[in-house]
Amino acid sequence: MSPRVASIREVLATYNDRAPLAEAATIPAPWYTDNRIAALEHTTVFSRTWQVVGRVDQVAKPGDYLTANIAGEPIVVVRGQEGLLRAFFNVCRHHAAAVMTEPCGHATILRCPYHGWSYGLDGTLKGVPEFAGVCNFDNSKNGLVPVHVDTWENFVFVHLDEPVFSLQDFLGTLAARVAPLQVSKLGFFERKMYTLNCNWKVYVDNYLDGGYHVPHLHKALSSVLDYSQYTIENDVRYCLQSSPMVAGQEDAATSATRTGDRAYYYWLYPNFMINCYEGYMDTNLVLPLDVDHCLVIFDFYFADVTTEAGKQYNAQSIAVGDRVQDEDVGICEAVQRGLKSRAYGAGRLSVRREGGEHLFHRLLAADLKGGLDASDRNQGSRAAD
Ligand code: FES
Ligand SMILES: [Fe+2]
Repeated sequence: MSPRVASIREVLATYNDRAPLAEAATIPAPWYTDNRIAALEHTTVFSRTWQVVGRVDQVAKPGDYLTANIAGEPIVVVRGQEGLLRAFFNVCRHHAAAVMTEPCGHATILRCPYHGWSYGLDGTLKGVPEFAGVCNFDNSKNGLVPVHVDTWENFVFVHLDEPVFSLQDFLGTLAARVAPLQVSKLGFFERKMYTLNCNWKVYVDNYLDGGYHVPHLHKALSSVLDYSQYTIENDVRYCLQSSPMVAGQEDAATSATRTGDRAYYYWLYPNFMINCYEGYMDTNLVLPLDVDHCLVIFDFYFADVTTEAGKQYNAQSIAVGDRVQDEDVGICEAVQRGLKSRAYGAGRLSVRREGGEHLFHRLLAADLKGGLDASDRNQGSRAAD
């Protein structure tokens, strides 16, 4: 007889989100490997948080647009003629094709490539070829479906469901904490994308281990950080990991491109990171592809993105980041294999180092359990109808 498969509620119940850090364990292995958890994350975590989809400088002028994919939903963000930024599901109201197909660009009208329906920059349906004789069809009811959009610094965010918090409230004190770093003065330089054979949470966990892995896995990076002085601060929905910088001798390129008094590593729940050194920022956006694959998008920003000397320096800096990323990819993929092993259930957390992971796991558990309770209530009320 095959063993009974645990219900999703039972899988969720195996994590104790009330335990203080000293008594806490990680979320259990099935949360990283169970398709039902991945599906629940789409409708809860990724549909009910502000999600970064692009940069404000990509949509600076009327007619500028960018496209993205959040929790399987195609999104288009577009600046209207009057200067207002709007977002829509990038799904044609005719037969569901993607209306805009480039990552970003400029348009005076949003025209679907399939049968040529066209929408204004405000999402209203403008042109419907060969539709004479169609009864009970109201153009005004067939515009693109809007999505909530807002911006902070150079980042464009959308929110798929009706937001409980404005973006400002969602960020909380993060905005004031990041403001002195003046990240919006840095210029965007390059995007790099990595597909990893691991659940998206493995990558986030690795990021949030308070530098625990840095001396073991990243020897060059470790040489410019004062590891013993590394700090970890949790707030409501974000964590700041920070370290004083020292003059390291391990690797010349790392020492030349990782400078300043402090390194700042901000993580915003659930999947966005902002990493700053002097004259440098990279952001990481971690997107689930399926339960054991994720896409990590790195955007690199620098103080000088125009001069030849600046470009050479930036390329050297990105190469340093690339090496760190390679080291992280290898370990994250090993972790994903380990999570599937019968030998592993969950692990304990270092009080000194892993408070950020603890915050992540508790926020995630609250969203998943809350989402399941809400869908149970809905089903209950439907059954009662
Ligand atoms: S699907 Fe867009 S015009 Fe037909
Ligand atoms: Fe790392």
